[in-house]
Amino acid sequence: MKLSARLSALAGSSALVLGALAGAAPASAAPSGAVAVPDIAVANVKQHLADLQSIATANGGNRAHGRAGYKASIDFVKAKLDAAGFTTSLQQFTSGGATGYNLIADWPGGDPNQVIMAGSHLDSVTSGPGINDNGSGSAAVLEAALTVARTGYQPTKHLRFGWWGAEELGLIGSKYYVNNLPTTERAKVKGYLNFDMIGSPNPGYFVYDDDPTIEQTFKSYFAGLGIPTEIETEGDGRSDHAPFKNVGIPVGGLFTGADYIKTAAQAQKWGGTSGQAFDRCYHSSCDTTANINDTALDRNSDAVAHAIWTLSGTGTTPPTGTVFENTADVTIPDSPGAAVTSTVNVTGITGNAPSNLSVGVNIVHTYIGDLVVDLVAPDGTVYNLHNRTGGSADNIVQTYTVNASSEVANGAWKLRAQDKAGADTGYISNFKLTFP
Ligand code: TRP
Ligand code: ZN
Ligand code: CA
Repeated sequence: MKLSARLSALAGSSALVLGALAGAAPASAAPSGAVAVPDIAVANVKQHLADLQSIATANGGNRAHGRAGYKASIDFVKAKLDAAGFTTSLQQFTSGGATGYNLIADWPGGDPNQVIMAGSHLDSVTSGPGINDNGSGSAAVLEAALTVARTGYQPTKHLRFGWWGAEELGLIGSKYYVNNLPTTERAKVKGYLNFDMIGSPNPGYFVYDDDPTIEQTFKSYFAGLGIPTEIETEGDGRSDHAPFKNVGIPVGGLFTGADYIKTAAQAQKWGGTSGQAFDRCYHSSCDTTANINDTALDRNSDAVAHAIWTLSGTGTTPPTGTVFENTADVTIPDSPGAAVTSTVNVTGITGNAPSNLSVGVNIVHTYIGDLVVDLVAPDGTVYNLHNRTGGSADNIVQTYTVNASSEVANGAWKLRAQDKAGADTGYISNFKLTFP
């Protein structure tokens, strides 16, 4: 949890203070050949669950299709993703005479012809708040997406996230999404990862037995922790991966168990209580924030990130070297406003900067044609990265390679942004330098 804890601590601080404090301590990147997968902060996942619980409590005790608690849940998740720089869309459908919603969030960048998708159903049954089923999957996928943004991850493949409506009425939302996805778009989806119930209070560690690559990716993660897994058998096709699988999209997922009973052998290897359901509050009013096993939620949230990062990043040469980054948000005032900067303090690098300095930029903005963005070296030399191109497109999420070989490496490097046209606004979300 070290990396994400540090990142969220930074993100929570004020931009002004961080602008002065500048960079994060150097963190070494992954060994070559591996993808650097961040740890997901389970505290953040739990906060999302507490928020979903509050939404249910304020709306008659549930977050079910057609009820106010469902729409409030969708609005809550969408607002977080919008603020982080995702391109989101609400997809409406009708079921049982009520309007339902799917939320789709695309992370800008990556190969548009190779999409890796992760999703979870956001609706509960009417009898309870649905915190394990399926606040758990929804919150883990949300935090994984927010971590993509926070770390400025730029995978080879395109990342898409989905939150489905009316799963509890028969996979209605996910079926609607897949049915309305044109054949050419379906062919681009190279994998769909489903997370439905991943924090059961008496947990098992179940992996879907579907696409072998996805299955192996999850199994390797748990093997690395020394945790045995079993194949999910509590009803194949009982969740939102089924519509994807039915049109030939490779699928996989995780599950910690619903109303099946934990055997003695399972309690032996996983702990917990044999002879008792994995989730005694399945589809009941007691499926509250008290109905979560934190260890299972933590491990599975990390497994979600492991699969997303591993499956979307293959084929790239992972960045190796020393990373300095500032994840504090810095507001860019609308034109005519001053230029603002985000700073990282580079220390411990001998001699000059490299000819291939990697400059990761994540700027959330609603019209990137307004923006001039520069890298400013410690001695004040300016390297222009972006000069009012891109028109009305949203967000600059890009890694630039800068020949900085005439600069001394150590010192305060700044990412400088200025808005040159009125109306649209935004902020610097992430600035990252990688010294190879
Ligand atoms: N949401 C699912 C349901 O209520 C829970 C579930 C049961 C499940 N069996 C499953 C999820 C198997 C994944 C795999 O039906
Ligand atoms: Zn359910
Ligand atoms: Ca503007």
